[in-house]
Amino acid sequence: MAHKLLSAVSVAITFLIALPLLFESSHAAGGVTYNVVSYGVRGDGKTDSTKAFLRAWSSACSSHRSATVYVPRGTFLLKPVVFSGPCRSSRIVFQMGAGSSTTLVAPSNYWELGNSGNWILFIKVTGLSINGGTVDARGAGYWRCRKYGKSCTPGARSVSIFWCSNVVVNGLRSLNSQIMHMAIDNSNNVHVKNVWIRAPSGSPNTDGIHIEYSSGITITKSTIMTGDDCISIGAGARNLWIERIACGPGHGISIGSLGGYANEDGVQNVTITSSVFTKTQNGVRIKSWARASTAFVRNIVYRNLVMKNVDNPVIIDQKYCPGNKNCPRQSSGVKISRVTYQNIRGTSGTKVAMNFYCSPSNPCWGIKLRDIRLTYLNKAATSSCANVGGSKSGVVIPKSCF
Ligand SMILES: *[C@@H]1O[C@H](CO)[C@@H](O)[C@H](O)[C@H]1NC(C)=O
Repeated sequence: MAHKLLSAVSVAITFLIALPLLFESSHAAGGVTYNVVSYGVRGDGKTDSTKAFLRAWSSACSSHRSATVYVPRGTFLLKPVVFSGPCRSSRIVFQMGAGSSTTLVAPSNYWELGNSGNWILFIKVTGLSINGGTVDARGAGYWRCRKYGKSCTPGARSVSIFWCSNVVVNGLRSLNSQIMHMAIDNSNNVHVKNVWIRAPSGSPNTDGIHIEYSSGITITKSTIMTGDDCISIGAGARNLWIERIACGPGHGISIGSLGGYANEDGVQNVTITSSVFTKTQNGVRIKSWARASTAFVRNIVYRNLVMKNVDNPVIIDQKYCPGNKNCPRQSSGVKISRVTYQNIRGTSGTKVAMNFYCSPSNPCWGIKLRDIRLTYLNKAATSSCANVGGSKSGVVIPKSCF
């Protein structure tokens, strides 16, 4: 009895102390925490929590201290939501629960993501951390529409980071996006680590992570299983470091496609290292449409990669045209140079393990092969070359064709 009374008193005291800080609680780092529960969310997976999340974000964003938006255990339904800056707070942590017990889900009817293009969008934020949690876009209905339907919405990316800098995404899980799982655009200094991405191998355009017009992007220690590229690197991407990725199923790690437009920025200084590709359509691919373009791809390093039954382990394709539809059938203007392939080993799912199809009007140059060992079903694989020049060193199997 006394014990109960005591705890009732202590609850009352805690409440009184907490009253002025109803929406705030301080934490050790001298920052302040805004728990979405204080803003009226229901973690039942059915009640729309969008407005409450936005109010919590707005409090954090306008805080003069470093601020955390805290999402506890539960399943929270979110419609398309924009967490926008610039913020007064110089550091915002979007913290989702502990482990994988916190899930953000999209509405079960895919139309509700509609024409938004992005489901969860962070825009113009400097100093952002996104920690833990699962986002589940429940894309299956949308993929069915794409497959059988006539008029589908354009689809939404699950987590987008646009015009942001100094961002860390750590331990996020993303499931079943409508289109790409994560998009990084016009951003600087973004580190994505320990993420786990999954969509079925047949799901259309469900790229894992797409990067464009961004610099200083690091992606490490992540597992990506999708229906499209595990990572796709588009125009204007530079200074990328990609390490310890498990990719597959999926279409591999791709630079491009470039050359979709006549006026386009290029891709430069990209390192992809210490990664494993399992049963993917491609390993490391550079692709461009066969069309005039100002774009380029240069200073690329592929190093310490393992291919396990990969259809095209090493490929440059400058007449990219999926499904052979609307092929421009010109010569690609995209200039590819200084690409190094070093210590790449494993098995190819097709006989041609290394395929360089470069542009007749802009041949690839400075391609370096060093210590390559790729086989085809334990037999010899081959390589194929068009309009490509470079050098080789160490053991190169299959023999290079330039
Ligand atoms: C290339 O990118 C890496 C990784 O972001 C970076 O550390 C390095 O400084 C860049 N190199 C140049 C020459 O910009």
